[in-house]
Amino acid sequence: MHYRDFGKTGMKVSEIGFGAWALGDESWWGKQDDKDSFKSLERALELGVNFIDTAAVYGDGKSEKLIREFLKTRKEKVIVCTKTPPATGVWRPNPWERWEDVYSEAYLRKDIEERLTNLGVDCLDILVLHTWTRAWNKDPGPLLALAKLKKEGKVRAIGISTPEHDQDSVNGPIRDGLVDAIQVIYNLFDQEPAAELLPSAKEKGVGIIIRVAFDEGSLTGKYNKETKFPAGDFRGEYFKGERLGDMVDRVDAIKADLVGSGYTVPQAALLYTLANPATSVVIPGIRNVAQAEMNVGVSHLPPMPEVLQVKLRKHAWRRGVWYP
Ligand SMILES: NC(=O)c1ccc[n+]([C@@H]2O[C@H](COP(=O)([O-])OP(=O)(O)OC[C@H]3O[C@@H](n4cnc5c(N)ncnc54)[C@H](OP(=O)(O)O)[C@@H]3O)[C@@H](O)[C@H]2O)c1
Repeated sequence: MHYRDFGKTGMKVSEIGFGAWALGDESWWGKQDDKDSFKSLERALELGVNFIDTAAVYGDGKSEKLIREFLKTRKEKVIVCTKTPPATGVWRPNPWERWEDVYSEAYLRKDIEERLTNLGVDCLDILVLHTWTRAWNKDPGPLLALAKLKKEGKVRAIGISTPEHDQDSVNGPIRDGLVDAIQVIYNLFDQEPAAELLPSAKEKGVGIIIRVAFDEGSLTGKYNKETKFPAGDFRGEYFKGERLGDMVDRVDAIKADLVGSGYTVPQAALLYTLANPATSVVIPGIRNVAQAEMNVGVSHLPPMPEVLQVKLRKHAWRRGVWYP
């Protein structure tokens, strides 16, 4: 396993981390046996992973509590990132929403106490706000409140998890030096952060956590046009209608570009994110031991050659009603 600096925080993180959403949230991911969750965490740590990502909303605290119970059985120091949800319960705050209603200091204080209890620690390693709007950039009250909590020793590093509809909304706080950490979607389809967000983060020494490197599974190359998702798996919606066929065609085009490279699709998907110099850690979602071994194994591969990185840039896919 290779380890990277987590921005300027002084933390050294394994370049492959563990995404723990599915461990807690059966309402999105369908059935998940806690025994498989424990075994996959165990295997990942044995292979050198020292970074786990979770959130309050992953099964209403279940993912956090499972991680707490698991870490009680281990001696090594593991860095855990967790997230505070919006107080209003409304994701994607609209431009008119006031941060005083969504992330007031009183709310953040209360929420952090709950995160500390769920994780069984006195100080959080990394706490990110689970959403954001650029409407708050000129008056970033929630980040100033988090800075106070950092001074008080409740959290070591603070930041934001990008709202997927406007990831560049966090570029202001990055430039203004208000965050230690950003969690962002960056993958073979969504390459937009390479334009501004990632270079700014690198310049400012902000730790970068890459999420959804597999585009919720499509970039593992395992789906075809007949794929049916089990009831209760949100991917039935995410890949619904024409999107499934479009996605399969696009993954086939990536497969064609990988011929002769020696990489499988999931290996290339992770290596592409690791090739960006701003990346501190990529956190593939992991649900079983085989996935832990496959994903962690990518750290042993040679870095993706630049010529292949450039070849794969053409697979960027901006999904929206204006684009095919
Ligand atoms: N901040 C946010 O708002 C936010 C949003 C999304 C995710 N996240 C974080 O980012 C992490 C990663 O994102 P994600 O889990 O949503 O999506 P992802 O990493 O793109 O996809 C993960 C899924 O792909 C499948 N998979 C994983 N490794 C595989 C392999 N080697 N071969 C084949 N299939 C494999 C697994 O599902 P199956 O086995 O069921 O196919 C797994 O749950 C999450 O766990 C969470 O910690 C944060």
